[in-house]
Amino acid sequence: MDLGDVMFSSPEQLAESLRATGYIADSIAITTVFLASRLQKPLLLEGPAGSGKTQIAYAVAQAAGTNVERLQCYEGVNEEKAIGKFDESLQRLCVELRARSAAPDWELLQSELHGQRFFSAGPLLRALQYEEPCVLLIDELDKVDHAFEAMLLELLSVWQLSIPKLGTIPAKSIPFVVLTSNEERRIGDPLRRRSFYLRVEHPTAEREAEIVAMRTPDARPEFHAGMAGLAKALRGWSLEKPPSVSEILDLAQALRILGAQKVTAEMRDILLPLLAKTEADRRKLLLRDGFASLVYDAQQYAAQSLDGSAV
Ligand SMILES: Nc1ncnc2c1ncn2[C@@H]1O[C@H](COP(=O)(O)OP(=O)(O)OP(=O)(O)O)[C@@H](O)[C@H]1O
Ligand SMILES: [Mg+2]
Repeated sequence: MDLGDVMFSSPEQLAESLRATGYIADSIAITTVFLASRLQKPLLLEGPAGSGKTQIAYAVAQAAGTNVERLQCYEGVNEEKAIGKFDESLQRLCVELRARSAAPDWELLQSELHGQRFFSAGPLLRALQYEEPCVLLIDELDKVDHAFEAMLLELLSVWQLSIPKLGTIPAKSIPFVVLTSNEERRIGDPLRRRSFYLRVEHPTAEREAEIVAMRTPDARPEFHAGMAGLAKALRGWSLEKPPSVSEILDLAQALRILGAQKVTAEMRDILLPLLAKTEADRRKLLLRDGFASLVYDAQQYAAQSLDGSAV
């Protein structure tokens, strides 16, 4: 690939383009994405649920003006699903049509039937067929087994797919690959070695306030700082399932619908279903004064961040 094909010209341009899509990343994430795109390295993202792993792939694609080809992994996902398969009904139809003509050339027909026209491509094959690089998102890779991981390893090493009867299909362009994992199974070292590894953690209060502001632009800065402060307070509570960015965004939107400017101790029972996602966490927040002290902590954090002091 020559430099004319680069997705992003600099980390600054990448940060600006991502921001324009509504995605706010920290400078380490920006530089890592930038280098991964330049060096054609897959990006392996690990971190808590709802922290924005999947969204990075969509934001990068939108910023680069390209498409996402997504392989959603699950236990038992197979090569047919990932790479594709021959469309048998179309093949049968073709045979029937040709059989009606005078003297069909069976050998020619056989090779025609095993051509790309009769192959319905899955996301891995489609990702190799773009003239300009697309984003290939292999989401929740921790759900697949070792054999499937080995097949991916080959694809990401040689950028081609060998398909029985169809042959070897080389990439027209090398996609920007995003692998995500929730760490249910450990991704193998060979795949780790080839990738750049980015941990996607909960954001700082300032960045979270910015993310909330993107989604609720009509609210005041105090509201955005308040949501980020609450997130920080909740994450300091050793909950079983601390809230992620996505849950804080849900909360912010819910408050806007309810017409509330901030979270108060009296709102505990209404807000619990949005904030506590396990029975143990619910109980913790229901403890006497529990929610009130949480709201107090949240207000302190919000005030600190509005003052521009340490957060
Ligand atoms: N840095 C961010 N900037 C803007 N929005 C964000 C950011 N991080 C997370 N979000 C929002 O949070 C939501 C959840 O993100 P996403 O689905 O990417 O999480 P995930 O890490 O893939 O979660 P899971 O592990 O459950 O699949 C999305 O709506 C996304 O827009
Ligand atoms: Mg995801």
